[in-house]
Amino acid sequence: MTGRQHALGGDLAESGSVALIAGGTSGLGLATARRLADGGLFPVLLGRSPERGKLALEHLDGRGAFVPADVVDEHDVDVALDVAEQHGPLRVVVNCAGTAHAARTVGRDGPMPLRDFQVVIATDLVGTFNVTRLAAERMTRLDPVYGQRGVVINCASVAAYEGQIGQVAYAAAKAGVVGMTLPLARDLAGLRIRVVTVAPGLFETPLTLTAPTELREQLQSQVPHPRRFGQPSEFAALVEHIIANPMLNGETIRLDAALRLPTR
Ligand SMILES: NC(=O)c1ccc[n+]([C@@H]2O[C@H](COP(=O)([O-])OP(=O)(O)OC[C@H]3O[C@@H](n4cnc5c(N)ncnc54)[C@H](O)[C@@H]3O)[C@@H](O)[C@H]2O)c1
Repeated sequence: MTGRQHALGGDLAESGSVALIAGGTSGLGLATARRLADGGLFPVLLGRSPERGKLALEHLDGRGAFVPADVVDEHDVDVALDVAEQHGPLRVVVNCAGTAHAARTVGRDGPMPLRDFQVVIATDLVGTFNVTRLAAERMTRLDPVYGQRGVVINCASVAAYEGQIGQVAYAAAKAGVVGMTLPLARDLAGLRIRVVTVAPGLFETPLTLTAPTELREQLQSQVPHPRRFGQPSEFAALVEHIIANPMLNGETIRLDAALRLPTR
Protein backbone atom coordinates (compact mmCIF):
# COMPACT_ATOMS: atom_id res chain seq x y z
CA MET A 1 0.00 0.00 0.00
CA THR A 2 3.00 2.28 0.28
CA GLY A 3 2.90 4.67 -2.66
CA ARG A 4 -0.91 4.28 -2.87
CA GLN A 5 -1.75 6.23 0.24
CA HIS A 6 -5.08 7.93 0.64
CA ALA A 7 -5.27 11.43 -0.76
CA LEU A 8 -6.69 12.83 2.48
CA GLY A 9 -3.73 12.02 4.65
CA GLY A 10 -2.29 8.55 4.27
CA ASP A 11 -3.52 5.29 5.66
CA LEU A 12 -2.85 2.86 8.46
CA ALA A 13 -0.95 0.40 6.35
CA GLU A 14 2.42 1.99 6.65
CA SER A 15 5.11 -0.46 5.76
CA GLY A 16 5.99 -2.56 8.77
CA SER A 17 2.62 -2.35 10.52
CA VAL A 18 1.14 -5.63 11.65
CA ALA A 19 -2.20 -7.11 10.59
CA LEU A 20 -3.61 -9.85 12.82
CA ILE A 21 -5.80 -12.13 10.72
CA ALA A 22 -7.99 -14.54 12.66
CA GLY A 23 -8.85 -17.53 10.49
CA GLY A 24 -6.00 -16.42 8.25
CA THR A 25 -4.72 -19.85 7.21
CA SER A 26 -7.32 -20.44 4.49
CA GLY A 27 -9.94 -18.92 2.23
CA LEU A 28 -10.78 -15.24 2.59
CA GLY A 29 -8.34 -14.75 5.48
CA LEU A 30 -5.37 -16.18 3.60
CA ALA A 31 -6.11 -14.15 0.46
CA THR A 32 -6.29 -11.07 2.68
CA ALA A 33 -2.96 -11.93 4.29
CA ARG A 34 -1.37 -12.21 0.86
CA ARG A 35 -2.73 -8.91 -0.38
CA LEU A 36 -1.71 -7.08 2.80
CA ALA A 37 1.76 -8.64 2.70
CA ASP A 38 2.09 -7.44 -0.92
CA GLY A 39 1.22 -3.97 0.39
CA GLY A 40 3.96 -3.97 3.01
CA LEU A 41 2.09 -5.09 6.13
CA PHE A 42 3.27 -7.99 8.25
CA PRO A 43 0.45 -10.56 8.57
CA VAL A 44 0.14 -12.58 11.76
CA LEU A 45 -2.16 -15.53 11.15
CA LEU A 46 -4.23 -16.86 14.01
CA GLY A 47 -5.60 -20.36 13.50
CA ARG A 48 -6.10 -23.70 15.18
CA SER A 49 -4.04 -25.99 13.01
CA PRO A 50 -0.21 -25.69 12.99
CA GLU A 51 -0.09 -27.79 9.79
CA ARG A 52 -2.34 -25.33 8.00
CA GLY A 53 -0.35 -22.48 9.51
CA LYS A 54 2.83 -23.89 7.98
CA LEU A 55 1.21 -24.28 4.56
CA ALA A 56 -0.21 -20.77 4.75
CA LEU A 57 3.20 -19.26 5.49
CA GLU A 58 4.63 -21.12 2.50
CA HIS A 59 1.85 -19.59 0.39
CA LEU A 60 2.96 -16.17 1.70
CA ASP A 61 6.59 -16.92 0.81
CA GLY A 62 7.42 -16.68 4.48
CA ARG A 63 6.12 -13.12 4.81
CA GLY A 64 4.30 -13.38 8.13
CA ALA A 65 3.94 -15.43 11.28
CA PHE A 66 1.48 -18.06 12.51
CA VAL A 67 0.17 -18.44 16.06
CA PRO A 68 -1.93 -21.45 17.03
CA ALA A 69 -5.01 -20.10 18.76
CA ASP A 70 -8.73 -20.54 19.15
CA VAL A 71 -10.64 -17.27 18.83
CA VAL A 72 -12.90 -18.09 21.77
CA ASP A 73 -9.99 -18.70 24.14
CA GLU A 74 -8.94 -15.52 25.96
CA HIS A 75 -5.46 -16.78 26.80
CA ASP A 76 -4.80 -18.01 23.24
CA VAL A 77 -5.77 -14.66 21.78
CA ASP A 78 -3.64 -12.78 24.33
CA VAL A 79 -0.63 -14.89 23.32
CA ALA A 80 -1.34 -14.24 19.63
CA LEU A 81 -1.45 -10.51 20.34
CA ASP A 82 1.86 -10.71 22.20
CA VAL A 83 3.40 -12.35 19.12
CA ALA A 84 1.81 -9.77 16.82
CA GLU A 85 3.24 -6.89 18.85
CA GLN A 86 6.73 -8.38 18.62
CA HIS A 87 6.61 -7.81 14.87
CA GLY A 88 5.59 -4.15 14.85
CA PRO A 89 2.67 -1.84 15.62
CA LEU A 90 -0.66 -3.70 15.43
CA ARG A 91 -2.83 -1.41 13.30
CA VAL A 92 -5.13 -3.87 11.53
CA VAL A 93 -7.28 -6.78 12.73
CA VAL A 94 -9.27 -8.93 10.32
CA ASN A 95 -11.74 -11.38 11.87
CA CYS A 96 -12.25 -14.18 9.33
CA ALA A 97 -12.53 -17.17 11.67
CA GLY A 98 -15.88 -18.80 11.23
CA THR A 99 -17.78 -22.02 11.06
CA ALA A 100 -21.23 -23.08 9.88
CA HIS A 101 -23.58 -25.86 10.86
CA ALA A 102 -26.54 -26.72 8.65
CA ALA A 103 -29.56 -27.98 10.60
CA ARG A 104 -33.22 -27.13 10.85
CA THR A 105 -34.62 -25.90 14.16
CA VAL A 106 -36.71 -29.07 14.27
CA GLY A 107 -35.45 -31.84 12.01
CA ARG A 108 -36.18 -35.52 11.45
CA ASP A 109 -34.27 -36.40 14.63
CA GLY A 110 -35.98 -33.80 16.80
CA PRO A 111 -34.91 -30.32 17.88
CA MET A 112 -31.51 -29.08 16.77
CA PRO A 113 -29.03 -29.91 19.55
CA LEU A 114 -28.45 -26.75 21.55
CA ARG A 115 -24.73 -27.44 21.59
CA ASP A 116 -24.57 -27.18 17.78
CA PHE A 117 -26.18 -23.75 17.93
CA GLN A 118 -23.85 -22.66 20.72
CA VAL A 119 -20.68 -23.71 18.86
CA VAL A 120 -21.52 -21.53 15.86
CA ILE A 121 -22.46 -18.56 18.04
CA ALA A 122 -19.26 -19.03 20.06
CA THR A 123 -16.94 -19.11 17.04
CA ASP A 124 -18.54 -16.60 14.69
CA LEU A 125 -19.92 -14.08 17.18
CA VAL A 126 -18.22 -14.48 20.56
CA GLY A 127 -14.85 -15.19 18.90
CA THR A 128 -15.13 -12.05 16.79
CA PHE A 129 -15.90 -9.96 19.88
CA ASN A 130 -13.15 -11.63 21.89
CA VAL A 131 -10.45 -10.84 19.33
CA THR A 132 -11.81 -7.32 18.80
CA ARG A 133 -11.91 -6.33 22.46
CA LEU A 134 -8.44 -7.70 23.27
CA ALA A 135 -6.83 -6.29 20.12
CA ALA A 136 -8.45 -2.87 20.55
CA GLU A 137 -7.00 -2.62 24.05
CA ARG A 138 -3.53 -3.29 22.62
CA MET A 139 -4.06 -0.61 19.98
CA THR A 140 -4.71 2.00 22.69
CA ARG A 141 -1.01 1.80 23.53
CA LEU A 142 -0.05 3.05 20.04
CA ASP A 143 0.33 6.66 18.97
CA PRO A 144 -2.21 7.59 16.28
CA VAL A 145 -1.01 7.87 12.69
CA TYR A 146 -3.02 10.19 10.43
CA GLY A 147 -5.41 10.60 13.38
CA GLN A 148 -6.08 6.86 13.71
CA ARG A 149 -4.79 4.08 15.92
CA GLY A 150 -6.17 1.15 13.97
CA VAL A 151 -9.03 -0.59 12.23
CA VAL A 152 -10.94 -3.81 12.92
CA ILE A 153 -12.58 -5.53 9.96
CA ASN A 154 -15.14 -8.23 10.72
CA CYS A 155 -16.64 -10.84 8.45
CA ALA A 156 -20.39 -11.42 8.51
CA SER A 157 -22.39 -12.94 5.64
CA VAL A 158 -25.43 -12.13 3.55
CA ALA A 159 -27.03 -14.87 5.69
CA ALA A 160 -27.20 -12.20 8.40
CA TYR A 161 -30.04 -10.67 6.37
CA GLU A 162 -31.48 -13.64 4.44
CA GLY A 163 -30.71 -16.76 6.42
CA GLN A 164 -31.90 -19.80 4.50
CA ILE A 165 -33.62 -22.92 5.78
CA GLY A 166 -31.12 -24.78 7.94
CA GLN A 167 -28.95 -21.72 8.61
CA VAL A 168 -30.49 -20.57 11.87
CA ALA A 169 -27.28 -20.72 13.93
CA TYR A 170 -25.06 -19.21 11.23
CA ALA A 171 -27.57 -16.46 10.41
CA ALA A 172 -27.98 -15.58 14.09
CA ALA A 173 -24.22 -15.42 14.62
CA LYS A 174 -23.62 -13.27 11.53
CA ALA A 175 -26.56 -11.00 12.37
CA GLY A 176 -24.83 -10.51 15.72
CA VAL A 177 -21.65 -9.46 13.93
CA VAL A 178 -23.63 -6.96 11.85
CA GLY A 179 -25.48 -5.75 14.93
CA MET A 180 -22.37 -5.07 16.96
CA THR A 181 -20.60 -3.15 14.19
CA LEU A 182 -22.06 0.27 15.01
CA PRO A 183 -21.83 -0.03 18.82
CA LEU A 184 -18.25 -1.27 18.50
CA ALA A 185 -17.41 1.69 16.26
CA ARG A 186 -19.07 4.03 18.75
CA ASP A 187 -17.32 2.43 21.74
CA LEU A 188 -13.92 2.65 20.05
CA ALA A 189 -14.30 6.03 18.34
CA GLY A 190 -12.76 7.89 21.28
CA LEU A 191 -9.76 5.58 20.98
CA ARG A 192 -9.53 6.42 17.25
CA ILE A 193 -10.14 2.83 16.18
CA ARG A 194 -12.55 2.10 13.31
CA VAL A 195 -14.74 -0.97 12.95
CA VAL A 196 -16.14 -2.10 9.59
CA THR A 197 -17.87 -5.35 8.65
CA VAL A 198 -17.95 -7.08 5.27
CA ALA A 199 -20.93 -9.33 4.47
CA PRO A 200 -19.82 -11.61 1.63
CA GLY A 201 -22.19 -13.44 -0.67
CA LEU A 202 -20.77 -16.59 -2.28
CA PHE A 203 -17.01 -16.96 -2.42
CA GLU A 204 -14.84 -19.80 -3.61
CA THR A 205 -13.12 -21.02 -0.44
CA PRO A 206 -12.73 -24.33 1.40
CA LEU A 207 -16.03 -23.49 3.13
CA THR A 208 -17.95 -23.62 -0.16
CA LEU A 209 -15.71 -25.88 -2.27
CA THR A 210 -16.71 -28.84 -0.10
CA ALA A 211 -20.39 -28.43 -1.06
CA PRO A 212 -21.75 -30.90 -3.66
CA THR A 213 -21.37 -29.67 -7.27
CA GLU A 214 -25.15 -29.67 -7.75
CA LEU A 215 -25.66 -27.39 -4.76
CA ARG A 216 -22.85 -25.10 -5.87
CA GLU A 217 -24.38 -24.79 -9.35
CA GLN A 218 -27.80 -24.10 -7.88
CA LEU A 219 -26.37 -21.39 -5.60
CA GLN A 220 -24.38 -19.84 -8.43
CA SER A 221 -27.44 -19.64 -10.68
CA GLN A 222 -29.02 -17.30 -8.12
CA VAL A 223 -26.27 -14.69 -8.37
CA PRO A 224 -27.47 -11.86 -10.66
CA HIS A 225 -24.17 -10.46 -11.94
CA PRO A 226 -21.45 -11.52 -12.25
CA ARG A 227 -23.00 -15.02 -12.18
CA ARG A 228 -20.22 -16.81 -10.37
CA PHE A 229 -18.63 -17.32 -6.97
CA GLY A 230 -16.45 -14.45 -5.86
CA GLN A 231 -12.71 -14.90 -5.67
CA PRO A 232 -11.04 -14.50 -2.26
CA SER A 233 -8.78 -11.87 -3.88
CA GLU A 234 -11.91 -9.72 -4.46
CA PHE A 235 -12.70 -9.87 -0.74
CA ALA A 236 -9.08 -8.98 0.03
CA ALA A 237 -9.26 -5.96 -2.28
CA LEU A 238 -12.17 -4.58 -0.26
CA VAL A 239 -10.32 -5.13 3.01
CA GLU A 240 -7.38 -3.19 1.61
CA HIS A 241 -9.69 -0.33 0.66
CA ILE A 242 -11.32 -0.28 4.10
CA ILE A 243 -7.90 0.05 5.69
CA ALA A 244 -7.03 2.92 3.38
CA ASN A 245 -10.29 4.87 3.62
CA PRO A 246 -10.72 6.60 6.98
CA MET A 247 -14.34 7.56 6.28
CA LEU A 248 -15.49 3.95 6.41
CA ASN A 249 -16.59 3.24 9.96
CA GLY A 250 -19.52 1.62 11.78
CA GLU A 251 -20.88 0.14 8.55
CA THR A 252 -21.50 -3.30 7.04
CA ILE A 253 -20.70 -3.57 3.34
CA ARG A 254 -22.36 -6.33 1.31
CA LEU A 255 -20.00 -7.89 -1.23
CA ASP A 256 -22.42 -10.12 -3.07
CA ALA A 257 -22.91 -9.37 -6.81
CA ALA A 258 -26.55 -8.42 -5.98
CA LEU A 259 -27.30 -11.86 -4.50
CA ARG A 260 -30.36 -12.06 -2.23
CA LEU A 261 -30.57 -15.55 -0.80
CA PRO A 262 -33.92 -17.26 -1.32
CA THR A 263 -35.66 -19.39 1.31
CA ARG A 264 -33.69 -22.49 0.36
N1 LIG B 1 -16.90 -18.46 1.48
C1 LIG B 1 -18.07 -17.85 1.48
O1 LIG B 1 -18.85 -17.93 0.52
C2 LIG B 1 -18.48 -16.99 2.66
C3 LIG B 1 -19.66 -16.26 2.55
C4 LIG B 1 -20.07 -15.47 3.61
C5 LIG B 1 -19.30 -15.39 4.74
N2 LIG B 1 -18.15 -16.11 4.84
C6 LIG B 1 -17.37 -15.99 6.09
O2 LIG B 1 -16.04 -15.68 5.77
C7 LIG B 1 -15.19 -16.11 6.83
C8 LIG B 1 -14.04 -16.88 6.23
O3 LIG B 1 -14.56 -18.07 5.67
P1 LIG B 1 -13.92 -18.81 4.40
O4 LIG B 1 -14.96 -18.89 3.38
O5 LIG B 1 -12.61 -18.21 4.10
O6 LIG B 1 -13.78 -20.30 4.98
P2 LIG B 1 -12.55 -21.07 5.60
O7 LIG B 1 -13.15 -22.29 6.22
O8 LIG B 1 -11.48 -21.22 4.60
O9 LIG B 1 -12.03 -20.07 6.74
C9 LIG B 1 -12.45 -20.07 8.06
C10 LIG B 1 -11.24 -20.20 8.93
O10 LIG B 1 -11.62 -20.02 10.30
C11 LIG B 1 -10.87 -20.96 11.07
N3 LIG B 1 -11.54 -21.18 12.34
C12 LIG B 1 -12.74 -21.77 12.57
N4 LIG B 1 -13.00 -21.80 13.88
C13 LIG B 1 -11.95 -21.20 14.51
C14 LIG B 1 -11.63 -20.95 15.87
N5 LIG B 1 -12.47 -21.29 16.87
N6 LIG B 1 -10.47 -20.31 16.15
C15 LIG B 1 -9.62 -19.97 15.15
N7 LIG B 1 -9.86 -20.19 13.84
C16 LIG B 1 -11.01 -20.82 13.54
C17 LIG B 1 -10.83 -22.21 10.19
O11 LIG B 1 -9.84 -23.10 10.61
C18 LIG B 1 -10.57 -21.58 8.84
O12 LIG B 1 -9.18 -21.39 8.63
C19 LIG B 1 -16.08 -16.93 7.77
O13 LIG B 1 -16.43 -16.13 8.86
C20 LIG B 1 -17.29 -17.25 6.92
O14 LIG B 1 -18.44 -17.45 7.70
C21 LIG B 1 -17.72 -16.91 3.83
